Amino acid sequence: MVFQLGHFTWRRVLLFASAVFLFFIFIFSLTPITSPLPPYTGPHEIGILDVETEIQRRVVHDAKFKDTGENAFELNTLAITLYYPSSLPVAPPSSRPWARPWLPQPVSLIGEGYARLAGVPRLSSVFTFALWLLGSSTVIPGVVDAPILSGVEKLLVDESGGASGLGKILKVAEEEHQELKRDEGFGILPCVVFTHGMAGMSQSYSHYLGSIASHGYVVAAVEHRDGSGPGTIIHYPNGKKQKVWHLKLKDLEPNPLMTELELKAAQLAFREAEISETIKLFAQLNAGEAPIVNLKPDSPRESLPGFKNRLNLSAVTVAGHSYGATGAMQALDTAGSNALPINGGIALDPGKESGPLNKNIEVPVLVMQSGEWTEKQTKFYDQGWHFDVVRKIIESVDKGWFMTLTGTAHPSCTDAPLIVPWIMKLVTGTTLDSRVALREYIDTSVQFLKYLQTGEKKRVLASEVTSAAGPLGEPDKRTKIKGLYGADWEIHVTP
Ligand SMILES: *[C@@H]1O[C@H](CO)[C@@H](O)[C@H](O)[C@H]1NC(C)=O
Repeated sequence: MVFQLGHFTWRRVLLFASAVFLFFIFIFSLTPITSPLPPYTGPHEIGILDVETEIQRRVVHDAKFKDTGENAFELNTLAITLYYPSSLPVAPPSSRPWARPWLPQPVSLIGEGYARLAGVPRLSSVFTFALWLLGSSTVIPGVVDAPILSGVEKLLVDESGGASGLGKILKVAEEEHQELKRDEGFGILPCVVFTHGMAGMSQSYSHYLGSIASHGYVVAAVEHRDGSGPGTIIHYPNGKKQKVWHLKLKDLEPNPLMTELELKAAQLAFREAEISETIKLFAQLNAGEAPIVNLKPDSPRESLPGFKNRLNLSAVTVAGHSYGATGAMQALDTAGSNALPINGGIALDPGKESGPLNKNIEVPVLVMQSGEWTEKQTKFYDQGWHFDVVRKIIESVDKGWFMTLTGTAHPSCTDAPLIVPWIMKLVTGTTLDSRVALREYIDTSVQFLKYLQTGEKKRVLASEVTSAAGPLGEPDKRTKIKGLYGADWEIHVTP
């Protein structure tokens, strides 16, 4: 589509925008178009904190922007959103605390980002308006900068299998034994690094990630600056700000000439560096060296010193969706030069066009695909059908699971189908209820994270293979099993 500049076209755009506006107001008055995010599934209240911190500057790839001549892949700061279990009691739904608006701020940055992504930068105010319309009433449940869960509280909830009202007694007991427990690494928390998909943002998965945190995990969702998201701002320690927009090949200087695949490789290398920096940050927090300044505007840091001696650095798992799933599998590359201290990986819908998938994996891995991802098969980089490529990789892993959640679509693990359920259902044609889908994804992910700690296979993970060839086999050989919430899973590979 080509939009010409000129009064006449602008007037039409304005007319169009106001028509859309009136239409949405009309729809709104008929039916609530958006739903609030549901409570998290685990026993703990969660803390949420946006953290941006300076890291050692480095250039991951020497490609430069055409218009500014600046490095396109230069790492200066790391931005993450932490979701972590908190020692605060779980609030009843009526007085549920909320951490912050679901839409990243400023909304206009994201609106402009999506408009640029769609190739119509002139319509950024329309995109901003649509985002505001659909997203502004949604808030992420949780408590900003809440104190992290203590060791005793973690253990008691683990043993009772749910939250207890003993908060106060526990606190006293804990204060008495604090030193002792810290020495023993009592009730320390496993960690997860999450990497988002193409055109996604770290906030787009708040329910999935917050729920994992509510089961007792410290989750860091990376806000990637690799040019894959709609837009993000780097805040330098000297106060300088730099916007990073969605990057296309044509935005780069032709020297060095890059192909689409090389661009993906550079972005994945950039993501891997950010994952590595996140793991370093976990180590710093655990050592009591919390960043002195939080570069994210208006974001506090009071809870960070409390992370001292609370993290299990032998239990860092990497997870991702789509492009991020490709990145997560990349980060598990044991043959690579900068092998990371990661104990396993979770890949949700590994990318079909995000570059070839890493095959050198020696730690346990769980691949969960949406029904849509499994049913619509495409050829994958001259390696055969995507499904077959994934299956062969996971079969070659010593402890690997590959499964499909029936009735879901590619965005089913994001917040979108929770916030605008009927729009998403209409657009993606899902048959499984969006809340059920998320609960199934969360439960299976948590079971996998527990497996990494205990070696015990439970629920879906304990199943035999039910459908080895999936969409490529005979339809009557595609047997399914029920998940905890009654949804159908097809199991393609098990350890
Ligand atoms: C830390 O994680 C490792 C790896 O999963 C596990 O073996 C170990 O028991 C954990 N440590 C504590 C103290 O929970």
